[in-house]
Amino acid sequence: MALPNDAAKTPRTLIAPSILSADPLALGREIEGIEASDFIHVDVMDGVWVPHLTFGPDIVAAARRASDLPVDCHLMVVDPAPIALQAAEAGARYVSFHIEACPLAHRLARELRARGARPAIALNPATPVSALEEIVEYVDMVVVMGVEPGFSGQAFIPRTIEKVRALAELRDARDLDFLIEVDGGVSLGNAGSLAEAGADVLVAGSFVFGAEDRAEAISSLRAAADAGR
Ligand code: DX5
Ligand code: ZN
Repeated sequence: MALPNDAAKTPRTLIAPSILSADPLALGREIEGIEASDFIHVDVMDGVWVPHLTFGPDIVAAARRASDLPVDCHLMVVDPAPIALQAAEAGARYVSFHIEACPLAHRLARELRARGARPAIALNPATPVSALEEIVEYVDMVVVMGVEPGFSGQAFIPRTIEKVRALAELRDARDLDFLIEVDGGVSLGNAGSLAEAGADVLVAGSFVFGAEDRAEAISSLRAAADAGR
């Protein structure tokens, strides 16, 4: 059974700052600085599936203690299932795992729901939307990567906009209500086109944490997205 769709509660585009771009020695303060956003995006990387080593489920739990914002946990690891379940136990609202890394996606989606989390499936730039046809009914969100996973601050891949549009068409055709999130390379320059194509949630790392005034960065990104809807 799907849980209530977060976008249904609010007509505006949801913004999920990625703490990958925050100061790791000041995470508590950095999280306080993004309270105007809708999610805390936590990127879990294992240094093997992607060449970078970052956070684990303890950071999800700590973010939950520090803030009322829901956690959106994005797993970029060789074997997502065990860490996904730990992230759910730690209180993540959404747990996303890559279709390219998870051959038993139906089972993991079911196990996440059993723990009260919302399963999300992520798609690398080189993976077509058609790869998700058999799983979209069983997830609450699809994460379309706008860059190759691994690092913040990379250039946006323009084809992402057409992938979002194809996914939104698939959602309509199948009468589903999963959220569409775009992760990587999001900025004022593409937020409107992404929202127009059907994106509900925009992840932003360097755009938010690279700004002096994070509240202003969040509201300007949301306004740019909403203007495209
Ligand atoms: C990339 C991560 C992203 C990243 C986004 O693998 O999944 O969440 O932090 O950073 P920007 O917005 O700087 O591309
Ligand atoms: Zn991410």
